[in-house]
Amino acid sequence: MQTSRFAIAFSLVAAAATAGTVTVKPTGRYMAVPVENGAPKVRLEVFDGATRVAYDDVEWARGMTNWTGSLDLRGLAGRALEFRFSGNDVPELTAADLKFAEAPFPAPKGQYDEPWRPQFHFTPPLGWNNDPNGLSYRDGEWHMFYQHNPFGVRWGNMHWGHAVSKDLVHWNDFGDVIAPDDHGPMFSGSAVVDHGNTSGFGKGAHVLIYTAAGRPHTQRVAWSLDGRNYAKWPKAAVEGRPDANRDPKVVWYAPGRHWVMAVYGEVEKGRHGVSLFASKNLKDWTLASNVPGDLFDEGKFLYECPDFFELPIKGETGTRWVLTAANRQYAIGTFDGRTFVPETTRLEQTRPVGGLNPVYAWQSFSDAPGGRRIQIAWSHFDSLAGGRTDATSNQGMTLPMELSLVRTADGLRLARFPVKELESLRAGEATAFKAFEGELAEVEFACTPVADAVVTLDLRGVKIEYDAVKKTLSVNGRATAWDLDAAGRLGLHVFVDRVGLEIFSLDGFQYLPLPEIVPDPANRKLSWRAAGAKKPVRDVAERAWRLKSAVR
Ligand code: FRU
Repeated sequence: MQTSRFAIAFSLVAAAATAGTVTVKPTGRYMAVPVENGAPKVRLEVFDGATRVAYDDVEWARGMTNWTGSLDLRGLAGRALEFRFSGNDVPELTAADLKFAEAPFPAPKGQYDEPWRPQFHFTPPLGWNNDPNGLSYRDGEWHMFYQHNPFGVRWGNMHWGHAVSKDLVHWNDFGDVIAPDDHGPMFSGSAVVDHGNTSGFGKGAHVLIYTAAGRPHTQRVAWSLDGRNYAKWPKAAVEGRPDANRDPKVVWYAPGRHWVMAVYGEVEKGRHGVSLFASKNLKDWTLASNVPGDLFDEGKFLYECPDFFELPIKGETGTRWVLTAANRQYAIGTFDGRTFVPETTRLEQTRPVGGLNPVYAWQSFSDAPGGRRIQIAWSHFDSLAGGRTDATSNQGMTLPMELSLVRTADGLRLARFPVKELESLRAGEATAFKAFEGELAEVEFACTPVADAVVTLDLRGVKIEYDAVKKTLSVNGRATAWDLDAAGRLGLHVFVDRVGLEIFSLDGFQYLPLPEIVPDPANRKLSWRAAGAKKPVRDVAERAWRLKSAVR
């Protein structure tokens, strides 16, 4: 390493040091951040003269390094930068301890063979993720940005990670595109393609709309013409409002030829909800209306991460607007470009077992071709479960699901199906359960349960049980309400990953994500049985596919 100029100035002796500074000229774009999961956090700040160009709280490895994060110093190679460490028990470092490279530091070998790694659900290559951000389709590519901690396997240091896919199934990760700055860490938001160059960033610019979570929070934009490198526009698009304001989701309102931004926040004293802003150019926004949710201490209706989109009603000529929020509830109504008038509220995208939200922060892709509305949510895969400390990543995403709006006996409802692109994971033809042997599985099971039937699927040791008397579906003993379809059929479409399962109903109206359930690694079998009346089930249809991994 070339350290043509450096100074080391640690204030105290090693064990008790609370601050230290290393000045060094980086010899490559990235600096190695050795992470030891659970090590005491130190604050690392990087200064170029008086300007702070980066800051992060890092679990800097004292003993063994679990994995190496890459601090992006784009455009700063060759400048004498000051790396300031502060906090409790700052490790004693010299310029020789700081390593640089032109490319990001590689992940440990065998990373995707880890027992806690889902194989066809997206997980961040390294570090923590929460919400999907900036889901969008542009120039033949699906873009998924995500709330990312590049220097820890727990929440913190919010950057936007960036993964790109040609088919919604296989993702290439391109590293972080926006990093914390003096306006705050980079909280959730969305992306649009500015086909008409309304912003002046350029025709077809990819525009990210995000929250800088300083005090107060501001909504800001960044843009790119190549879909890989993103520059921040220096001004705030929506100036500071109370701290809660965040998670801008932008959508083009064609009839009015303007943009609409749905922002989570305090819409009146003590009450959260969604504010709708309007803009002609993505830079200057005015408040159009508010959609009230619950009181802050009362409930979660319209809490965090709004998504807002128009859908045609299946088989009819009309459309409706759908407003979803992070927890799982949604509203259906009409929208005139300024005001959303809900017709039905507090509908549920999932009825999870145990009352928890195993997935969160649902967002749909803007600009999907063919008018498709495809949604992904943050999935709580927990690679630290059971006190594990050697994980290289934590959390992940649900499968991509395609939404439609369907008129049912109960009114309009969202229907969801796993996207058809997932069929490319099937390794060969479908088999009967008995003939199945494998780790990753896609399973379809349908039957008509009779009288007091109890139908049990055993999928690699995971017990999924439908009880016709209680009208519940339970998974490993934890139950949730479950409806048969309009024809009285129980229809289950289940994806079994190395970690986690997702259950869809074959009619699209029920969805049960189970990221916390781990199938028995030694059990590669599928089976079902039915108990109860003399012939508890009629017209059974079962098939299963072995699936390929999407990450190896
Ligand atoms: C939801 C959320 C958002 C926020 C982000 C920060 O999970 O709390 O409201 O923007 O996470 O990571």
